[in-house]
Amino acid sequence: MNEATTLGGKRPTDGQLALAEALVRGDTRAATGITRVPASAYTDPDHFAREKAALFGRLPQVLMPSALLPEPGMAVPHDQTGRPLLVTRDKAGTVHVFLNVCRHRGTRLVEGTEAECAARLVCPYHAWTYRLDGELLALPRPDSFPGLDKADFHLAELPSREAGGLIWFSPVEDTDFTHAETLGADMDAFGAADHFLFRRKTHSVAGNWKLIMDAFLESYHVTRLHAKTIGPFFKDGVTSGDHIGPHARSAVGRVDELDGIDLTDMAALRRRVTFAYQLLPATVIIPSPDYINVMCLWPQAVDRTLVEDFMLIPEPPATEKARDHWERSWALLDGGVFASEDFRAAELGQQGLATGAVPYLTLGNLEAGISRFHETVGEALRAAN
Ligand code: FES
Repeated sequence: MNEATTLGGKRPTDGQLALAEALVRGDTRAATGITRVPASAYTDPDHFAREKAALFGRLPQVLMPSALLPEPGMAVPHDQTGRPLLVTRDKAGTVHVFLNVCRHRGTRLVEGTEAECAARLVCPYHAWTYRLDGELLALPRPDSFPGLDKADFHLAELPSREAGGLIWFSPVEDTDFTHAETLGADMDAFGAADHFLFRRKTHSVAGNWKLIMDAFLESYHVTRLHAKTIGPFFKDGVTSGDHIGPHARSAVGRVDELDGIDLTDMAALRRRVTFAYQLLPATVIIPSPDYINVMCLWPQAVDRTLVEDFMLIPEPPATEKARDHWERSWALLDGGVFASEDFRAAELGQQGLATGAVPYLTLGNLEAGISRFHETVGEALRAAN
C-alpha cells in the first residue's frame, strides 16, 4: 500500500503520513529541556579520525542519486570518499561501485568527474578493456600473458544498492541495506527514481561535517537565518520527526494551513509540509514542493567538508520558461539558502568553536534533533570499538 498512487499522484508512505498527522494534531516533539554537545566533537582531530574510521569507513552511504546515471551504459568516477571509486550502470541497468583502478598495473581507469556514456572502459595505459559490469573483456597482445585467466582480473567491486532513486555503497563487505530499502520507499513516494538531474555542484565548506548536518537537524534557525530567503514560507518551530534505523526523518509545517487537505495526496501534502531526511553518516535530502535536493557530505578534515548538492526535477525542462523556473529554484536553494546561509553558518561556527571560548554548545527544545544525531554518532563510534 505504501507505494500506491492516488488519482492526484503519489501517496505518502505510512511513516510520512504519520508525521503529517502529528503536525495536524499539533502533536509536535516532546520537550527535552536544555542539552549540551562538547565543542571538541567539532574541533578535535583525533575525534574526527575516529569518526572517519567508524562511520565513513564502515557504514553504508549514499554516493549519488540514480539520476546521475540515468541510462544503461554509463559511468562516473567518484573521489570524495578518499578512495577512487567508479560507479557504473551496466548494459542490464544494474549499478556497480568499483575501485577505479585497472587490474593490470594499477593505473586510474577513468579520469575526470563527469558522467559519461561508455560501452566499455579502456585503460589509458595499455588498453586493457573492461565491461561495465567489471569483467575484463580484452587486452592487447594476449599472447604476451601466457596462461592469464581474464576471470581473475575483474575490477574490484564494493557492495552497493540502488533504492528509490539513490545509489548507496558500503566500504565493507557483509553490509545490511535494509534501511536503504525502507528509505527507498519514502523516496519512491516523492517519485525520486524517475527524476531528472537538473544541476550538480560541489561546495567546499570550511567547517566540520556535523556543523553542516546540524543546520538540517533543527528548525530553530529557519525563520531567522533564512529570513530573507525561505524563512517566510515556514511556521516557527512546527515540526515532527522519527527515525528509520539510525536515519532521521522530519516534517516542518509551512505557513499554509493543513486543515481540510487530503494528507494522502503527496502533491498537496508537499505544498504544506516540507519533509527532510538526515541520513547517517552524512546525507541530507530535502524534497521541496516540486523538486528534490540531495546533499552528500564528504569530510576531508576536522574543519573542511565537501558537499555535493544535486537538484532533481520531475522531468527535463521542455521550454525556456520551465528552465528559468528551475534555474531560479536552484539559485534560491543551492546558492542562497545552502551556500550563503546554512554552509556559511557552519563556517562561522567552526571559526568560533576553534577559539575554545565555548566549551559546550547549548541546545534548546527546538534543537533536540542535534542532540539525537550526536547520540546516534556516539553509538556508531562505540559499536566500532
Ligand atoms: Fe591499465 Fe596497463 S595499467 S592496461
